[in-house]
Amino acid sequence: LDRKVKQNLLEEGNFINYKKMSENLAVVRSRLNRPLTYAEKILYSHLDNPHEQDIERGVSYLRLRPDRVACQDATAQMAILQFMSAGMPSVANPTTVHCDHLIEAQVGGEKDLERAININKEVYDFLASACAKYNIGFWKPGSGIIHQIILENYAFPGGLLIGTDSHTPNAAGLGMAAIGVGGADAVDVMANLPWELKAPKVIGVKLTGALNGWTTPKDVILKLAGILTVKGGTGSIVEYYGEGASSMSATGKATCGNMGAEIGATTSVFPYDKAMFDYLVATKRSDIAEFAKTYQKELQADEGAEYDQHIEINLNELEPHINGPFTPDLATPISKFAQAAKENNWPEELKVGLIGSCTNSSYEDMTRAASIARDALDHGLKAKAAFVVTPGSEQIRATIARDGQLQTFEEFGGTVLANACGPCIGQWDRRDTPKGTPNSILSSYNRNFTGRNDGNPATHSFVTSPDLVVAMSIAGSLYFNPLTDSLKDKDGKEFKLQAPTGAGLPDRGYDPGQNTYQAPPADRATVQVQVSPTSDRLQVLSPFNAWNGKDATDMPILIKAQGKTTTDHISMAGPWLKYRGHLDNISNNMLIGAINAANGEANKVQNFTTGEWDAVPAVARDYKAKNIPWVVIGDWNYGEGSSREHAALEPRHLGGLAIITRSFARIHETNLKKQGMLPLTFADPADYDKISPEDKVDILCTELAVGKPITMRVHPKNGKDFDVKLNHTFNEAQIEWFKNGSALNTMAKNAKN
Ligand code: F3S
Repeated sequence: LDRKVKQNLLEEGNFINYKKMSENLAVVRSRLNRPLTYAEKILYSHLDNPHEQDIERGVSYLRLRPDRVACQDATAQMAILQFMSAGMPSVANPTTVHCDHLIEAQVGGEKDLERAININKEVYDFLASACAKYNIGFWKPGSGIIHQIILENYAFPGGLLIGTDSHTPNAAGLGMAAIGVGGADAVDVMANLPWELKAPKVIGVKLTGALNGWTTPKDVILKLAGILTVKGGTGSIVEYYGEGASSMSATGKATCGNMGAEIGATTSVFPYDKAMFDYLVATKRSDIAEFAKTYQKELQADEGAEYDQHIEINLNELEPHINGPFTPDLATPISKFAQAAKENNWPEELKVGLIGSCTNSSYEDMTRAASIARDALDHGLKAKAAFVVTPGSEQIRATIARDGQLQTFEEFGGTVLANACGPCIGQWDRRDTPKGTPNSILSSYNRNFTGRNDGNPATHSFVTSPDLVVAMSIAGSLYFNPLTDSLKDKDGKEFKLQAPTGAGLPDRGYDPGQNTYQAPPADRATVQVQVSPTSDRLQVLSPFNAWNGKDATDMPILIKAQGKTTTDHISMAGPWLKYRGHLDNISNNMLIGAINAANGEANKVQNFTTGEWDAVPAVARDYKAKNIPWVVIGDWNYGEGSSREHAALEPRHLGGLAIITRSFARIHETNLKKQGMLPLTFADPADYDKISPEDKVDILCTELAVGKPITMRVHPKNGKDFDVKLNHTFNEAQIEWFKNGSALNTMAKNAKN
């Protein structure tokens, strides 16, 4: 295990550390004294402090040291801007950025890419220059989708990766635990803070038998989504094993891992096996393949390891599935699908079939899909539905262009889009169906929530394997079952499509295509990060001010929020995402969705200095301009929803000091601490009712100490002052964040000392 094997072919100096991992595991084993699941082995071998870390699945918070960070272009903007504000010369852990989310599909690959490069020029220039400056690998627009690039280049067995995108678990295809996180978590790891994760439970999924005929790895996860529902994997890692698992290709495993996000799973893992070995060799990483073999014992579960929940799926009997519409867990086997479509009045005509995306772009997927298209072409048929292909990477595009599948798709009537997310993330200028018209589309993607693909809430979007997308595109009907139904060829003669065939890996190896990678230069000191001062999409962040060392007195309550206040209420998405790299602009959405307890309305609060009623961000800006810090009062589970860091950055930017609630969603609470704010909770939740939106409050910040409550003195508009006890969950290190103004300020300070 002592060997120096590089994590990938693109970076020098970043090695796979199986030796350290096995030492950590030995420590944990001696403490826990029980067999471990594979998921646990990956996590525990990456513990910051294996000797002292509390380890209880579903209970403890693990402090981890991931091997890598990956960011897509939409989420990378704020993550990198924050990292820059720490003033460190380079990222502390290997990091890559991938330009895939901002490319709109309109007419096809090259033209769309050209347009996107023009529209997003300032974002790409910023990311490219910041990556060069801070030693981050940069994948240019056109290179492909983040998760495909990670699988092709960076994933390795037993590794731990965090990525600022929900489908990061795609790297399960190579036995990696890859976890989707918010930007704030990515920044921590870039800046060398340990990363915190609640110790996940482990769901064991035993796969028996082997896939055959029309059934694909996608059907395993479609079936599982039906069993577990969109919530069933929450707080858990899905661990696949068994002969059925080893019968699937590495890229097939990646598909299962990828879509594990749809059941809320933290991530999914597969034990290291021959299929992964072969994929590593095919992607020119034989040294990693061999090295992993020497660590094989720890790249699978221990004999007798116990799971929190157990599920078994027999692949011999598994039918192809179609899930949807509107939710990925409404799973229907193909044999029942026509009937379900009729009963539920799903529009019969299939308007568009879409294959590819990060979920199903492998060579295997493409060759199988092309075999069906070729079968149809041989019978004189083309796709009746519009047919769209999104290659997952430049390497896949170039390989299928060389080997002929791309031409088959074009002959079949398909449009080949840029190597990017495109319609999967709503970057789709769809023209064939007017908004509001009910219609059906079928894709090999992973997510099908209302409006996701084309912004039309009446579109019935279904997800399935690429095989079924192609087959049903030929028929143009949701009622068609290729396993049992016949089609009519050009002469009106009936025929049945043959079951698809494909190659797991290209016989002639992968064709890398155009070089779309920008390595960080050796001399980075002179690189200038490009942010135009007049940009409305990007803004350099200045470090937040440190605490002044005093109690805060006579602060107004900006808003007393009532009922559900999610991160969407605090920082709305939709059109605001355009400003995700510009803190001041996006702050104009701060708390505009929260309901004011004073009037039951959203985005209408009273400015105590003027008596006027105004929008929440406007009042906050006015207080900030007048140097008046403010607080928010919140209800139960404040900040639930996503890990969106903007929800914590915005109140800090607009001059807030504390958020005082009945309770917090934990991730948001931590995010507030990271930005140097005080998340506090009423020791007696009933005190929430004693506070009126017009009151003023003092927060006795000087009392802040680990495990001790802190006092809030309330000055009611009418009546006598009273004190309220507030609890908090700050530990020593986090108190330093508050004192220094933020976690990043603390990192920067420590780096200097
Ligand atoms: Fe992109 Fe869709 Fe995957 S948005 S990363 S292709 S889930």
